[in-house]
Amino acid sequence: MSNKHIVWHDHHISKQERSKIKDQKPCILWFTGLSGSGKSTIANAVESALLASGKHTYLLDGDNIRMGLNRGLGFSEQDRVENIRRIGEVAKLFVDAGTIVLSAFISPFQKDRDAVRALVEAGEFIEIFVDTPLDVCEKRDPKGLYKKARSGEIPDFTGISSPYEAPRKPEIRIVNDRISVDDAARQVVDYLQERGYLNA
Ligand code: ADX
Repeated sequence: MSNKHIVWHDHHISKQERSKIKDQKPCILWFTGLSGSGKSTIANAVESALLASGKHTYLLDGDNIRMGLNRGLGFSEQDRVENIRRIGEVAKLFVDAGTIVLSAFISPFQKDRDAVRALVEAGEFIEIFVDTPLDVCEKRDPKGLYKKARSGEIPDFTGISSPYEAPRKPEIRIVNDRISVDDAARQVVDYLQERGYLNA
């Protein structure tokens, strides 16, 4: 379909004004890592901590988005690329709304994460690598999916039969087989605090 008759409208209210009344600098906290690495758990803990200090947040979560907006997308490389592209656009809208967005998707490909980074301004994309070794994720297997992937019941499973590209230069790296959820969350909140995201 052609976009040639579509014209961008400028809003009356700016991102800066929306951020100022929330007393924060909006950003995307982009959690990436293997299935079972702890992305959602840590993202939820970070969101709780931010909310408790009066910040405005929203969490986009892999499995949930795949039940709604991205229903119909599977796990082929092409579908994963489209999954992340759409989530990036949604996250950008939340940033424009002045919100601190947390996203928890495997997002296995560096170029797709870089494409989301390129959608927003410098400093608005914070890549958080939840660096949990595959054998630890597989031992945890919270949804029983690794077992199914090993038996061949689930094809294209990240880490088993589909690749995961670890971030080259993440802003934050959480080594998640040695620390508690609270400590992991604190690492992220401290990063935001130290760099002035939690005040307008
Ligand atoms: S991504 O690769 O496109 O970023 P996303 O984070 O949305 O993946 O979804 C991953 C979740 O889908 C996993 O946590 C798991 O529960 C489920 N899942 C089902 N099939 C697969 C698969 N083949 N590979 C990875 N995750 C899968």
